[in-house]
Amino acid sequence: MQIRQVSAGERPGTFFPLATYAFMPSPWEDEAREKYAQRMRFYETATSLLAEEDGRPLAGVGALAMRQNVRGAVRDMAGVFSVVSDPDARRKGYVRELMTRLLRQTREQGSSVSALYPFRPSFYERFGYVGVPRFRTATFAPEGLAHLLKADLPGEVRRLHMTEGFDDYNALTLRLLGEQHGFAVYDETRAAEFREKPSAWVAIARVDGEVVGAVTYRVDSYGGDLVAGDLLTTGPLGRALLLQFFARHVDQVARVVVRLGTDEVPELWGTDFSVTTEGRVDHPRRGGPMVRLLSIDALNGLHTPAELAVTVEVIGDDLLAGRYRISGEAGTLAVGKSTDEPGATLTCAGLSALAYGVLDPVEVVIRGFGQVDAAAGEVLGALFPKRMPYLFADF
Ligand SMILES: CC(C)(COP(=O)(O)OP(=O)(O)OC[C@H]1O[C@@H](n2cnc3c(N)ncnc32)[C@H](O)[C@@H]1OP(=O)(O)O)[C@@H](O)C(=O)NCCC(=O)NCCS
Repeated sequence: MQIRQVSAGERPGTFFPLATYAFMPSPWEDEAREKYAQRMRFYETATSLLAEEDGRPLAGVGALAMRQNVRGAVRDMAGVFSVVSDPDARRKGYVRELMTRLLRQTREQGSSVSALYPFRPSFYERFGYVGVPRFRTATFAPEGLAHLLKADLPGEVRRLHMTEGFDDYNALTLRLLGEQHGFAVYDETRAAEFREKPSAWVAIARVDGEVVGAVTYRVDSYGGDLVAGDLLTTGPLGRALLLQFFARHVDQVARVVVRLGTDEVPELWGTDFSVTTEGRVDHPRRGGPMVRLLSIDALNGLHTPAELAVTVEVIGDDLLAGRYRISGEAGTLAVGKSTDEPGATLTCAGLSALAYGVLDPVEVVIRGFGQVDAAAGEVLGALFPKRMPYLFADF
C-alpha cells in the first residue's frame, strides 16, 4: 500500500468510486461521475491523500482549507472530509495512517485547528477530537410571530436568488467569522460553489444599508414548510427583521423550520409563541461536529478574562505532546514550553475541550481526558470559561 497526494482533477478517477460507494445510494448512474468531475474546481485548494495498491484506490482522506474563530482569534482550520475506505480494505489501519499523515501535513501547511463531522465520534476521539454542539432546529407556525408583523423595525429584508445574494451573504459570514466563537468558513475556492445554487433563496436584512442578517431557505409547498438554513445575524435587530420576514408567510406555509446555534432560545421570541427546538444527534448521518487543536500555538492570543497561569502536560498526541505554561495576560492567552511540575495532564481532546469551551476541568476528568489537581482546575476553569461554539459550516 502506498500513500500519495492527489489533485482535484484526479479525484474523479480515485476518490469518486470510494466516496460515492460510501456516502451515496448505489449502484450509481453513469452521469454521476461527470457531475462530480464538474464540481472538482471547488476542491482545488483541498488536500486529498489516497492509499492505493497497484494503482487501485483503497482508502482516502481530505481536508478543506477553512478558517475558524476560537475565542475571538481567527485560525486556519483543516476541515476533514472524504474519510473513506473500500470495504475490502477496511479494518486494516489504512485510514488511521492516512489521518495521521493528513493532520501532520495540514499543520505544516499552516492550519492550527481542525474540525470534522464524525460518522462515529469514538473513531475520531482516538485522533484527539472532541465533540462540540450540533446546530438546533426551531419549528414553528408563522402565526406565532404575528406580533412582529405590526412592529415598525428600522430596516428592510430583500429576497434574492442565492446567485444574486451570494456576495452579501458571504460578506456576512466573513464578518461573523471575526465575531462569533466557533464560526467557521470555507476559503474562496470552495465557497464559490454556493454562488451557483439557483435552488436556494436568500433573505438579506439591512439597517441603513448595512447587512445585519441573512438566511437561506426554500419553500417546500403551498401550505407546507419553509425550510431555512442557519439564521445568521449580527444581533437582535437582524434576527427580528428575518423573523418578521418569516411571519409574512403566515397564509402561505404551515411551518417554518430554521437552524440555530445553542445560544438562541426561540421560546423567548414572542408571548404565546409555540415552538419546538430540537438538537438531534444520531450516527452515522447527523453527528455533532468535532474539533481539535493541531498546534499548541493555536492558544496564543485567544481571549481570556483571567490573569493566572498553570503548567499542563499534554500526552498521547504526536502533534501536541509536551509540557507548557499557559497564562492569561491583559485579556489574551500566552503559551510557552515549561519544565515546571504540571498541575494537569491532558489528552489532546481534553485540552481542545477547554480551548473550545465545551467542557470545564471537572468534566474533562470525568470524560477520561486527563487528570487535573484542584488548584490547576481552578486556574484552567478561569482561563477557559465554558462558552459554546457555533460552527455554522457543514462539510
Ligand atoms: C469509517 C471507515 C473510513 C473506517 O475505515 P477503516 O479502514 O476500517 O479504518 P482503519 O482500519 O484505519 O481503523 C482505524 C482505527 O479505528 C478503529 N475503527 C474502525 N472502525 C471503527 C468504528 N466504527 N468505531 C470505532 N472504531 C473504529 C479500527 O479498529 C482502528 O483501530 P486501531 O488503530 O486501534 O487498530 C470505513 O469503515 C468507511 O469507509 N465507512 C463508510 C464511510 C464513512 O462512514 N466514513 C466516515 C465519514 S466521517
